[in-house]
Amino acid sequence: MINIAIDGPSGAGKSTLAKAIAKSLHIYYLDTGAMYRGVGYAALQAGVDVCNPGEVETFLNTIDIETIYKHDEQRVLVNGDNVMPYIRTPQVSKAASDISAHPCVRLKLVAMQREVAKQYDVVLDGRDIGTFVLPDAKYKFFVTADVQERARRRQAELIKGGIASDYQKVLDDMRLRDKNDSSRSLAPLKKADDAILIDTTSLDVDAVVALVLSKFSQE
Ligand code: DC
Repeated sequence: MINIAIDGPSGAGKSTLAKAIAKSLHIYYLDTGAMYRGVGYAALQAGVDVCNPGEVETFLNTIDIETIYKHDEQRVLVNGDNVMPYIRTPQVSKAASDISAHPCVRLKLVAMQREVAKQYDVVLDGRDIGTFVLPDAKYKFFVTADVQERARRRQAELIKGGIASDYQKVLDDMRLRDKNDSSRSLAPLKKADDAILIDTTSLDVDAVVALVLSKFSQE
């Protein structure tokens, strides 16, 4: 199986890159952040305190999470419902980051991610794919950019999705999420030693995609 790991902080351009690579290589794309977002969203809906380990574990045992592909597009289903339309808000971003720190959540979702990687040729994007989910993946990339540039991109994305957003608030949220994601004890956001580092601050999407594809053509 071809497994490609793309990790990095939010707003660095991982998902755009991962989708383009998957399309170009005709393989699947697994957005692992969408899985944490799905659990975070469902927890918020159920009134669960996403920072409380006991509440989160009890909640996790009552829900059914699935990742499926429909028309080659990934969907996350919680108790059979497609949650994809609801998971891109700032509230869900924060809840996903908080809930992802609990080992019970990570271990459940990581097991699902490994199963997908075993069955399909797939590009996975996340925080811990190269270090924890698939430490033996042949291709690993760590994509990053200056936090101000990442906040600018995220703000533009939110506005495009109809969510009014203040730049300073987006920047503050992003710094907080970076800190949360990098400081949790199990599988924090971290570059794998053998991952190729790509700084996208002053690169456009096409340049980043070309750079990554050039690594495959060098084989
Ligand atoms: O990539 P994203 O912004 O959609 O991810 C949302 C949150 O999910 C992120 O703040 C941390 C968590 N996450 C994680 O802990 N591990 C992953 N592999 C992917 C996401």
